[in-house]
Amino acid sequence: MVEISTSLLSVEPENSIKTMYDLEVAHTDYFHIDVMDGIFVENNTSEKMFTYTNQIKQISNIPIDVHFMVENIQEYIEQYLPYEPNRITFHFEACKSKEQVLENISKIKENGIKVGISIKPNTNIKEIYEFLPLVHMVLIMTVEPGKGGQKLIPETLEKISKLNQYRSENNLEFDIQADGGINLDTIEQVKKAGVDIVVVGNGIIKTDDYAETIRLLKQK
Ligand code: DX5
Ligand code: ZN
Repeated sequence: MVEISTSLLSVEPENSIKTMYDLEVAHTDYFHIDVMDGIFVENNTSEKMFTYTNQIKQISNIPIDVHFMVENIQEYIEQYLPYEPNRITFHFEACKSKEQVLENISKIKENGIKVGISIKPNTNIKEIYEFLPLVHMVLIMTVEPGKGGQKLIPETLEKISKLNQYRSENNLEFDIQADGGINLDTIEQVKKAGVDIVVVGNGIIKTDDYAETIRLLKQK
């Protein structure tokens, strides 16, 4: 059964606490926190996401799935350590060297947090093969990172199936997560490609009944 990580990116601050409660009752498996620094991507959500993480820690035990779309990964890891997120995912494309990728992986792991590596739609999965034995999750972006409510890019599904095949051929154990444009219309093709966790933002937040939407996303 696929797990659901609900993105809070499109949640307005005035509704955040109520939305978090409602999503907990609706059995989201994770809260997905989209941290953008205005450098790696145009938008800057750092303040808002920091506030939301604080709020979640005060009212819920649902695991936090942090997605860094930032340049200065080490700095943001430091910022999020005190909140003990379940996992922190950073972008391969934000790293200037293999050493930097390895440094980020170790810093996250040595603090007892699961580590994810993410690639943008145009990045080939071969670029991250060497890191796969070291990570807990690979996040395949199914839209260009930077904003919610975009259309899923169908060509990215091929990357998910290829990664799935590579994982079994090499007896690796990382989770495969997809993120962007996933909703009741696109979930079936994403699942067919072979994901373990899907990030859903507008596909849940914009619906009237979160529990029903999450149930259908899992069932389809
Ligand atoms: C985009 C973010 C996604 C986005 C998902 O950069 O990483 O998590 O918020 O939102 P939807 O599901 O609306 O595409
Ligand atoms: Zn995300």
